[in-house]
Amino acid sequence: MSDRLYIFDTTLRDGEQVPGCQLNTVEKIEVAKALEALGVDVIEAGFPVSSPGDFNSVVEISKAVTWPTICALTRAVENDIRVAADALQYAKRKRIHTGIGTSDSHIKYKFNSNREDILQRGVAAVAYARKFVDDVEFYCEDAGRTDNEYLARVVEAVIAAGATVVNIPDTTGYCLPEEYGAKIRYLMEHVSNIDKAILSTHCHNDLGMATANTVMGVINGARQVEVTINGIGERAGNTALEEVVMTLRSHKELGIDTNINATKIASTSRMVSSLMNMPVQPNKAIVGRNAFAHSSGIHQDGVLKNRESYEIIDPKDVGVDENSIVLTARSGRAALKHRLHTLGINLEPEALDKAYEQFLKLADRKKEINDDDVLMIAGEHHKARSRIKLDFLQVTSGVGIHSVASVGLDIAGEKFEAAASGNGPVDAAINAIKLIIRRKMLLKEFLIQAINKGSNDVGKVHMTVEYDGAHYNGFAANTDIVAASAEAFLDAINKFVR
Ligand code: KIV
Ligand code: ZN
Repeated sequence: MSDRLYIFDTTLRDGEQVPGCQLNTVEKIEVAKALEALGVDVIEAGFPVSSPGDFNSVVEISKAVTWPTICALTRAVENDIRVAADALQYAKRKRIHTGIGTSDSHIKYKFNSNREDILQRGVAAVAYARKFVDDVEFYCEDAGRTDNEYLARVVEAVIAAGATVVNIPDTTGYCLPEEYGAKIRYLMEHVSNIDKAILSTHCHNDLGMATANTVMGVINGARQVEVTINGIGERAGNTALEEVVMTLRSHKELGIDTNINATKIASTSRMVSSLMNMPVQPNKAIVGRNAFAHSSGIHQDGVLKNRESYEIIDPKDVGVDENSIVLTARSGRAALKHRLHTLGINLEPEALDKAYEQFLKLADRKKEINDDDVLMIAGEHHKARSRIKLDFLQVTSGVGIHSVASVGLDIAGEKFEAAASGNGPVDAAINAIKLIIRRKMLLKEFLIQAINKGSNDVGKVHMTVEYDGAHYNGFAANTDIVAASAEAFLDAINKFVR
């Protein structure tokens, strides 16, 4: 029997802090559901006091996810903790993650304070958080550079105050693996009440040692690891989930394992990379494009004779299908079904028929259909059930002329048409839709992204529409970005028009 290691995923908090990686609430829910399917134990969903968007994401993820504990970050500040507790109100299992800097550098320069005061503030934060939830994690920020004797006093005091998990972050990615392992061992041996809590690792990758440090932490007694998909995160990133999970699976002699369904690693990695616009480096361990590619003749020969000659992991174990069929306009329904299955989507026969129709239309416009396209198509059949559908859209636009759009909508089977002008094709299309759906709604956010590359590519559109004081998110993807924009607008409207 292996010892159980808990996976705390912070892709949506530490990962999402990276400039350019921000997700809207709909995308965060998509990622949270993928993390749930992957089998993570805890999802750190955001830092609710930091912005209304973060607050809302924690609320919505709490509603959308069933099994993992939903965690919200705070500083050791009462208002942060109250706001986090409020954001977590719908979570089936909830945790508040509070903490403070404990290194001398943080104490002196960040807080202009002293060790005793910081210890008391930590204790007070934990005691306050326990008024709202039973599960409280405490982080000793910059623990990597904190003196071990003082760190042990802080850990003991916050456990006595009710912390269930104590996080030992190497915030700056400074530690050597031996040093970090020794720190965890020191705490295991010198904190008298350590049996009442779990120690957690949280390693940054500034010197490229995040995974090594995390594994050393685990070997020395930590039983929770804080990780992100693809190792994304502040600066050089956080420890990569896939690397820790597969290190433990490859080294069974360590006798430690997680609840992760590793066959979902590749598809989750692709989803996060594509939604966050963060390409995975080709030689990245486990999930890089070249992680299982053998280019030298000697290696190819060896692998063909016996895979284990040059591979320590069977690519199928992490969901990489080496024989994956390239999908084109000539691919059949079975090939699409197989690819959807590999991506973790199983459609009923009727939905599969609809998806296949969409697939053929897209394959006519694009030479090769990739996994992002397939994921987009799989989302399309949901729209068939929408009350308001886009029947047709015609747009005239160009340089030196005013854009004009004619729109046809099908609202619960009834047909409506309108035409309007605008300062561009999207504006004209939205204005025409507004002439049919006469509600006081405001477009708050509008984001267009190309999924891959090439002028025949699919454009993804996200919109946030404000109606009656609430925000509704819409999403659509199409090779025509004006059509995608109109569909995303309708997708949002469908969420409040009944
Ligand atoms: O790196 C760090 O110290 C953190 C804490 C806020 C947990 O992300
Ligand atoms: Zn961090």
